[in-house]
Amino acid sequence: MSELAILGGKPAVTGAWPRWPVLGQRERELMDEVLASSLWGGTGLGPKITELNSKFAAYCDTKYGAAVANGTVSMELCLQAWGIGPGDEVVVPAATFFATSVAVHHQGATIVYADIDPKTANLDPASFEAAIGEHTKAVIPVDIAGHPADMDAIIAIARRRGIKVLEDAAQAHGAIYKGRKTGSLGDAGSFSFQQSKNMQSGEGGFVCSNDGGFIDLIHYSIGKFGRGVREKYAGHVHYNFGWNACYTEIQAAIALGQLERLEKQTAYRFENAKRLITELQGIEGFTPFCYEPYCTRHGHHLLMARFEAGGFEGVSRAQFLAALNAEGVPASSFYPMPLYEQPVYGTDPKLKMRSLPCPETEKICREVLFFEQNLLLAEPDRMGEIAGAVRKLRRGAKELLGIKVKQDDYMGSAVLRQARKTAAQ
Ligand SMILES: Cc1ncc(COP(=O)(O)O)c(C=O)c1O
Repeated sequence: MSELAILGGKPAVTGAWPRWPVLGQRERELMDEVLASSLWGGTGLGPKITELNSKFAAYCDTKYGAAVANGTVSMELCLQAWGIGPGDEVVVPAATFFATSVAVHHQGATIVYADIDPKTANLDPASFEAAIGEHTKAVIPVDIAGHPADMDAIIAIARRRGIKVLEDAAQAHGAIYKGRKTGSLGDAGSFSFQQSKNMQSGEGGFVCSNDGGFIDLIHYSIGKFGRGVREKYAGHVHYNFGWNACYTEIQAAIALGQLERLEKQTAYRFENAKRLITELQGIEGFTPFCYEPYCTRHGHHLLMARFEAGGFEGVSRAQFLAALNAEGVPASSFYPMPLYEQPVYGTDPKLKMRSLPCPETEKICREVLFFEQNLLLAEPDRMGEIAGAVRKLRRGAKELLGIKVKQDDYMGSAVLRQARKTAAQ
């Protein structure tokens, strides 16, 4: 009989992986305080949100911050605060979660998709520069998986051309670029506190910046129906057009608890990731992403790798992922196509978009796979188990060729699939 678990053999890994989120007494205490206060939501200016705004902004090495409903609306509010709208162009990498694009489209601006650097899967500064036209008003580099984008190079180009830089750090809480925290590097930084993120409150988002007037505009006004800022903040007087982007006190209580764990967890994940990357070296067809010299610390929302069928006896990525999951190692892939190929562009003529050639994006969409952050919270010696499972599959690669799998089964989030499985039990 085959040794491979997917063909009836014994799984390489039998121990459970750490559950996400990590929850402790602290979240319960903070939540109890909110419940007892009777202020659960309301204006979005309550004490827990105020505390979170200053604490998370400080954590990100910025002076000011505003918690908002989610990490998509957070970017939209930034673009709105800068007056970006129809006729303006915003450069976005073609390999990111569609949320980055959604924020631009909701402002009615035109997206120009640019290619990625194959070493990091982040916006390639040269492609960004090539994408700039006379209407370019902003660029949104994304710190994908938690590896910082090459912000100095991007900012230098942007400054020369008067372009705003909005760092989409939704996947990069606690990551560090040349000694500076992600989120602090551009004109503004945007985070997500959605369920799968390394700091989360179910849903939620955050904008941080050193520009107090800009944060006030988002916090008091355009995130709250366009009311006036500070002393002009009043129930039914509207000076701007805005959204209901309110975060709640209940969410802030959870986020404050999660924030207390963030630094330790981020450092722990980074150490485990370095161990895992070392253990994964030299496997033909399977190449983990490493760190660029400017990456002081990777935030590791994900640990990504490239899977090349050609180096793996012709096994497809979906076959490999099915087999790896059967071995007891959750892994997935994402972003099945460059964003400019998303079907919505064929059906909704409102969405304005053009694209540069993006060969690296097209390649990564075919090759990428990832382990989610919760695996990196396991005991250090379990990193060897992950690498061991990959090596086991490499040895048995020829046997995998015949297995039948649906590619779609491995496009989701392993953490969410795990959560659904746990909930169903
Ligand atoms: C790169 C990126 N940008 C933006 C978002 C949007 O965040 P949210 O889900 O909080 O709206 C996400 C994740 O969801 C993301 O991964």
